[in-house]
Amino acid sequence: MSELRLELMAEAHLDDFEGLLDDPDVLRFTRLPDPPAPGFSREWYARYQAGRQDGSRQAFAAVAPDGTFLGVALAPHIDAEAREMELGYLVAPAARGRGVGTEMLRQLTAWAFAEGQALRATLLIDVANVASQVVATRAGYLLEGVLRSTYFKQGARSDVQIWSRLPTDS
Ligand SMILES: CC(C)(COP(=O)(O)OP(=O)(O)OC[C@H]1O[C@@H](n2cnc3c(N)ncnc32)[C@H](O)[C@@H]1OP(=O)(O)O)[C@@H](O)C(=O)NCCC(=O)NCCS
Repeated sequence: MSELRLELMAEAHLDDFEGLLDDPDVLRFTRLPDPPAPGFSREWYARYQAGRQDGSRQAFAAVAPDGTFLGVALAPHIDAEAREMELGYLVAPAARGRGVGTEMLRQLTAWAFAEGQALRATLLIDVANVASQVVATRAGYLLEGVLRSTYFKQGARSDVQIWSRLPTDS
């Protein structure tokens, strides 16, 4: 799946993004709200648009060579002064299990280190989210530890792994 490309998230991707919000794994394992309120996608996009302007967030759509939407690759938290970024990824259910998540994270990480000039990229992954842990490992991230019973969303607490990759990692 190395031929996928990341393009800046735009209004044109919003219907596809909205389709991700029906997926139980997305609702369980990401900080997107469960259930999403009506109009959530537009609010979410506006937040990322604002973050793009002030340098605190970035969102990409992953697209196949034929234009098929494959998912989103995100930097939900960019600390420009510290040169650190939290990254994340959601693959459309129909595109899972064939390396899309791994390739998205590879490209997103390359962007974070090159254009984003990050010196540390991190991932927060639920201990039960084995597919995402496989993706992190394959994209060269190292598991640093587990944040126990950390606030996740909407009053929910989870055990969440923290993974990192540095530009100097091989
Ligand atoms: C996690 C996610 C991004 C993985 O995307 P993907 O495109 O399927 O990932 P890849 O195909 O690159 O790799 C997944 C690997 O994990 C493996 N895997 C999946 N579930 C697994 C499980 N329960 N135990 C062991 N391996 C598992 C897959 O078989 C695959 O390995 P393979 O290539 O050897 O078959 C996707 O499932 C997703 O979007 N989930 C919902 C959102 C989410 O959890 N995002 C990450 C938040 S941290």
